Amino acid sequence: MADAKGIRSIDTVMHEERLFPPPAEFSAKARIKSLEEYEALWNQVAADPVAYWEKTGRDELHWFEPFTQTLDWQEPFAKWFVGGKTNASYNCLDKQIAEGRGDKPAILFEGEPGDTRTITYTELYKLVCKFANALKSLGVEQGDRVSIYMPMTPELVVAMLGCARIGAVHSVIFGGFSAEAIADRNNDAGAVAIITADAGWRRGKALPLKATVDEALKKSPTVKHCIVLQRVNEAVEWTEGRDHWWRHLMADASEDCPATPLDSEAPLFILYTSGSTGKPKGILHTTAGYNLWAKKTFEWVFDHRDDDVYWCTADCGWITGHSYVTYGPLSAGATCVIYEGAPDYPEKDRFWEIVEKYKVSLFYTAPTAIRAFIKWGDEHVEKHDLSSLRVLGTVGEGINPQAWMWYHETIGGERCPIVDTWWQTETGGIMMSPLPGAIATKPGSCTKPLPGVIPKIIGEDGEECGPDQGGMFTIAHPWPGMLRGIWGDEERYKDVYWSKVPGKYLAGDNSRCDRDGYYWIMGRIDDVLNVSGHRLSTIEIESALVSHPAVAEAAAVGRPHELKGEAVAVFVMLKSAAPTEALRQELKQHVRKEIGALAQPDDIRFTNSLPKTRSGKIMRRLLRDIAAGKEAVGDTSTLEDYSVLASLRQDEE
Ligand code: WTA
Repeated sequence: MADAKGIRSIDTVMHEERLFPPPAEFSAKARIKSLEEYEALWNQVAADPVAYWEKTGRDELHWFEPFTQTLDWQEPFAKWFVGGKTNASYNCLDKQIAEGRGDKPAILFEGEPGDTRTITYTELYKLVCKFANALKSLGVEQGDRVSIYMPMTPELVVAMLGCARIGAVHSVIFGGFSAEAIADRNNDAGAVAIITADAGWRRGKALPLKATVDEALKKSPTVKHCIVLQRVNEAVEWTEGRDHWWRHLMADASEDCPATPLDSEAPLFILYTSGSTGKPKGILHTTAGYNLWAKKTFEWVFDHRDDDVYWCTADCGWITGHSYVTYGPLSAGATCVIYEGAPDYPEKDRFWEIVEKYKVSLFYTAPTAIRAFIKWGDEHVEKHDLSSLRVLGTVGEGINPQAWMWYHETIGGERCPIVDTWWQTETGGIMMSPLPGAIATKPGSCTKPLPGVIPKIIGEDGEECGPDQGGMFTIAHPWPGMLRGIWGDEERYKDVYWSKVPGKYLAGDNSRCDRDGYYWIMGRIDDVLNVSGHRLSTIEIESALVSHPAVAEAAAVGRPHELKGEAVAVFVMLKSAAPTEALRQELKQHVRKEIGALAQPDDIRFTNSLPKTRSGKIMRRLLRDIAAGKEAVGDTSTLEDYSVLASLRQDEE
């Protein structure tokens, strides 16, 4: 175990033997109270998934018209709840009010500067209705795509639900992406409108958003309208006819907007994520199955009760914010804290101050944040009363056992079950996770599959692996929350997820299952990096670099990083320019401009050649070793000629 706080290696989790049973008093009150109860449910669903989802789908969503067929599976295309009509915004709002939660807070908002708002279900319903009418007033119709590029404010949730209410398909773009990335997404989706804000708050400064959208819209011919929320009071440029203030549209809009009854399979949203090839994939989720999966998994994994206060720290720019800030918790009637800003602003105890202030009971964050908290020191935690906490969750990457133990002891006071949740943009919601009242946890393991999830680990030979044998993580049966495709690219969908292992969904991760039936995720099988829990494609970064006139060729790899999990290291061959520090900085800025700040390389090394196999493939494993072993420092950190090394290692690739 080489790393104290850093990246989890295979080594650190191969030897993990500790077992933490759910506290007895927790289990006694839990929805699912014991391992036996979990196993019985899991077996029941596995034996007849269609029967289980038929009943659950009927009981837990609102139906304008009932469905006539639970599952239509024409591999690899699934249709769930065929013939039914529902609406995700209705399930999140109208249904909650009808069940008596009208005055219950849906959102407890804390802005970074300290401004706060409590929004009840009835108030949220009115805002969403008004906003849906505002969209209609601009001519946005069912099936139209709408991009959203906003700070983490309640209006972001209003925008998503407003689209869902009228059947417009939202495509949320994380605020860290560049104008180029926004334009690519607008064009791929054919977005007719974009919703943004003047700026958002980040560490006390205004992070401009509208200005970036203005740049993007120069290259987004399909976008006719831009709605602008005033969050910070930044001066913005204005294009008459195209740009509309949020508040003006809202002032004119009626509070009456019945939810459109939508087919179960009507597209709900597209969310772009990185894959192994250059272009980000528009992952498509549809209405009923996704909504049900988000709700059910939220209730199971967090053991949610009506009096809980739930806080997921994710931004709605990522799938976690879709499923576990918006659709899951709201369709379960939860009270959700939303915080706009940075965890260390104004002080490093901001998160714990929020937990204490709102008496948060269910808390969901990412390992990269936990590693930062550890580094900042326990004194920031100890200032606050965290006794309201009941369940702690993590998502986005594996959590190394040391960070797990710190979360357990220092945040959870050894009292709160930790749910390490494995899932993906594609899966729509959590797939692997402990149920907090039923499954004993092992630090670093996402433990067992949720009911309805049938994982299979498959070796390179196509056979199922035995205990402790590593292989490709696949899923054997369709589930309601699964992606329905890649926007506009059916072939890529079949190819990426369904071609390598026949009949099973290929997740793209390696995993092993131990003798107790606990799963350990061991990282990606493809060229996807996980930087602070964010998915990045090495090829996307390489394409950005070679689009710079000075660059002949580039190779990007991940290297272990104490806080981010992985950092981006790139090896660059120049055409003729001199390898200067100024150029290094320029290339970093160039990647920022092409993709966004989140993809900016941490290290850039100049080199005269890249190690390749005889067939011309870059030897990434060798580059990864080099990137991990040496720090890139100073002006002249060019790589020595490693052709000798390369030839020594050629057999490996
Ligand atoms: C990784 C985020 C280990 C994994 C919800 C997956 C994890 C990718 C975990 C999906 C976890 C996510 N343990 N690895 N608990 N959660 N991952 O699409 O490699 O942004 O394939 O979805 O993150 O990232 P995405």
